[in-house]
Amino acid sequence: MARLLYIETSPRKDRSASIETARIFLIEYQKTHPKDLVETLDLWITPLPEFDGEVINSKYAILQGLKHTEAQRHAWSAVEKIISHFTSADKYVFSLPMWNFGVPYKLKHYIDVITQPGYTFSFTPGEGYKGLVTGKPVAVIYARGGSYPAGTKAASFDLQKAYMELFLGFIGFKAIQSVIVEPTLSSPEETEKAKATAGELAKKLAATF
Ligand SMILES: Cc1cc2nc3c(=O)[nH]c(=O)nc-3n(C[C@H](O)[C@H](O)[C@H](O)COP(=O)(O)O)c2cc1C
Repeated sequence: MARLLYIETSPRKDRSASIETARIFLIEYQKTHPKDLVETLDLWITPLPEFDGEVINSKYAILQGLKHTEAQRHAWSAVEKIISHFTSADKYVFSLPMWNFGVPYKLKHYIDVITQPGYTFSFTPGEGYKGLVTGKPVAVIYARGGSYPAGTKAASFDLQKAYMELFLGFIGFKAIQSVIVEPTLSSPEETEKAKATAGELAKKLAATF
C-alpha cells in the first residue's frame, strides 16, 4: 500500500480550477489504485512554524556544523515534524494557482520549512548539492488566469512552473509530471475547454501514476 500525499494550495476550494482538476486526478487514482491511501494536506488550514528566531538560528547551526542549543532543538522539532510528514509519503500531487507569476505564499512558506540541509538536500564540496527525496513520483497541477504557452514571450513570465520544477529537482525529484489549466480567467467557453482538456490529462496521468 502506497501513501499519496496531496498538497492543496488554493484557498478558493469549490471555485478553484487547480482543485477541480486535482479531484479528477484523485478520483481516478483511487479507482485504479484501490489499496493506496490518499492524504490531503491543505496548506490554508495547516499551521506552519514561522521561519524566524531560533528556527532560523537552527538552520544556520546545521549549515555551520554546530550543535543545536536547547532552545534551537525545541524550535527545530516543529520543522522536523513537518519534514518527516512530507518525506514519509511515497507519491506526491501538488495543486496550485499562479499568483503574481509565482506560487501562493502558503506554498512558499511550506517550501521554506521543508527544504533543509541534511533532510531534503545535502551539500558536500565534492558532490555539491544533492537532493535526498529520491525515487518517488510527483505530479503538479497548475492553474493560471492567463496563458503562458512555451515558446512565446508570455512564457518568460511563468515563474510558477519554473520555480516548482527548480525546487522539486533540487530536493531530488526526477520525472516531474505536470497538468496545466489555462486560461481560467477567459470567456466561460474558453475556461470550460481548458478545464476539460486538463481534466482528461489528469485522468490519464492518474491511472498510471
Ligand atoms: C493574488 C492573485 C494573484 C494572481 N496572479 C496571477 C498572475 O500573475 N497571472 C495569472 O495568469 N493569473 C493570476 N491570478 C489568477 C489565478 O491564477 C487564476 O484565477 C487561477 O485559476 C487560480 O487558481 P485556482 O482557480 O486553483 O484558485 C491571480 C489570482 C490571485 C488571487
